[in-house]
Amino acid sequence: MIINVREAKLSDDAAIGKLQPRNSRETIKAGLERDRRESVLGNTKRLVIEIDGAVVGQAIFERLSKLTRGHRVRVTDVVVAEEYRGLKLCTRLFEAGENWVQSLPGVNILELTVRGGIEAEEIYRHLGFLEFGRLIGGIKESWEGGLIYDEVFMFKKV
Ligand SMILES: CC(C)(COP(=O)(O)OP(=O)(O)OC[C@H]1O[C@@H](n2cnc3c(N)ncnc32)[C@H](O)[C@@H]1OP(=O)(O)O)[C@@H](O)C(=O)NCCC(=O)NCCS
Repeated sequence: MIINVREAKLSDDAAIGKLQPRNSRETIKAGLERDRRESVLGNTKRLVIEIDGAVVGQAIFERLSKLTRGHRVRVTDVVVAEEYRGLKLCTRLFEAGENWVQSLPGVNILELTVRGGIEAEEIYRHLGFLEFGRLIGGIKESWEGGLIYDEVFMFKKV
């Protein structure tokens, strides 16, 4: 099994569509194009992880506005395909993302938000993230079921 982490390409749209089925293909394509542009400017690293050449996970690392928050990088859209969870692929994505962050002069805060009570919350704590806030009922899913979660705000010093 060959595991590889690399920057996302525009042609990853179909694979990412499978990882994020609630997003339309147009939304995914627009996101990939935006992240490509921001990558050239040094502001974003959208990473995918492959197993034997197939994309099975992703995470986006995005530096905030340089005017006042250029020392912070936000992590979003973290997902690993269900059948590949528990294999430390998320850990690999974060290691690669943190390596990029450490190459950016002055950046020392990594941050993210997560639904309270889901497995990812514990995984992020395990990866060294600390909670700094919680918006009760801050996430309400717009699809069937309309589940409501707290939004947990977390950070890690890098
Ligand atoms: C969150 C997610 C990306 C994690 O991916 P993963 O590849 O399975 O995670 P890893 O295997 O790298 O696990 C990371 C670490 O957390 C640990 N861990 C896993 N489940 C855990 C749990 N329930 N409690 C505590 N630690 C846990 C692992 O043991 C591992 O630590 P280790 O390297 O010391 O053993 C994956 O579960 C996922 O895609 N979930 C659905 C989407 C989602 O919730 N995304 C986050 C939205 S913010």
